[in-house]
Amino acid sequence: MSKIDGKRFGPWAVITGASSGIGREFARQIAASGIHVALVARREPQLHEVGLECSREFGVEHRVIVADLAVEGFIARIAEATRELDVGLVISNAGSANPGRFLDKNSDELAMTLRLSALAHAEMARHFGRRLVDRGRGGLAFVGAVGAENGAPFMAHDGAAKAYVRSLALALHEEFKPFGVYVTAVAPGPTDTPVLARFGLDPKTMPLKPMLAGDVVREGLQALSANRATLIPGRMNRMMRAVVPASVTRSMMMRMFANMPELANPPS
Ligand SMILES: NC(=O)c1ccc[n+]([C@@H]2O[C@H](COP(=O)([O-])OP(=O)(O)OC[C@H]3O[C@@H](n4cnc5c(N)ncnc54)[C@H](OP(=O)(O)O)[C@@H]3O)[C@@H](O)[C@H]2O)c1
Repeated sequence: MSKIDGKRFGPWAVITGASSGIGREFARQIAASGIHVALVARREPQLHEVGLECSREFGVEHRVIVADLAVEGFIARIAEATRELDVGLVISNAGSANPGRFLDKNSDELAMTLRLSALAHAEMARHFGRRLVDRGRGGLAFVGAVGAENGAPFMAHDGAAKAYVRSLALALHEEFKPFGVYVTAVAPGPTDTPVLARFGLDPKTMPLKPMLAGDVVREGLQALSANRATLIPGRMNRMMRAVVPASVTRSMMMRMFANMPELANPPS
């Protein structure tokens, strides 16, 4: 677990996608630093569970905000629910994975993914960026995905939308720096969360063990505390990214998805 500076990043943090996986772990580690947590996602019971856990174990306050980040206008709901909170930290993490053939996606799916994986980060950055800049300190972490900008076969649109996250965060890192606001792009590789099941992957049988969400978050919070522009969590992920050409990674993804029965056959 990583402790972060409550004076810089407290007294409240807003975490999107806090009902599960990496977001849930962000909530726990931030709460362990004595920072109150406002938890955002669609599934209310899971958010209450995470909030109660944070309050019980770490003695912080929590607030549950039910919102669908793929729906236009979601930011007004989050703005209203956090209006009187002194927010010093924002973790823009909510996301999903929808592997499949690009040609099988319909326009609604394409639009939904862009709203969740790109536009939602921009709306969070604009609303909370203004608040953080006005108070002159704080931090924003954006969760993307390693190598998204290099193209991901059978995740073509998901990957392209995720590539937006890194670009946005790198630019805001510079824009917000003069105002004392830290910005980091966190780009995880395979991580042991419920998302893996969507790829038909079992962490126990994967050739390279996925990272634990706790380790991804610990490294992510350390990078934000040091105001690093970007971080790929995990030494193995960093090494792979440095030595394996992107074209080889794309071929590996093609082979991996070819083993998924629903993707093995050509489009009908
Ligand atoms: N796990 C990996 O291998 C991996 C690798 C690279 C990048 N990532 C990224 O890491 C982030 C966290 O993923 P995870 O692995 O922790 O997956 P996860 O366990 O499935 O968590 C995803 C979170 O996002 C929330 N979410 C999804 N759609 C939403 C929507 N429309 N509105 C509001 N909240 C929504 C979910 O909450 P509700 O369902 O309750 O709304 C959940 O809290 C994502 O951005 C993902 O792309 C993960």
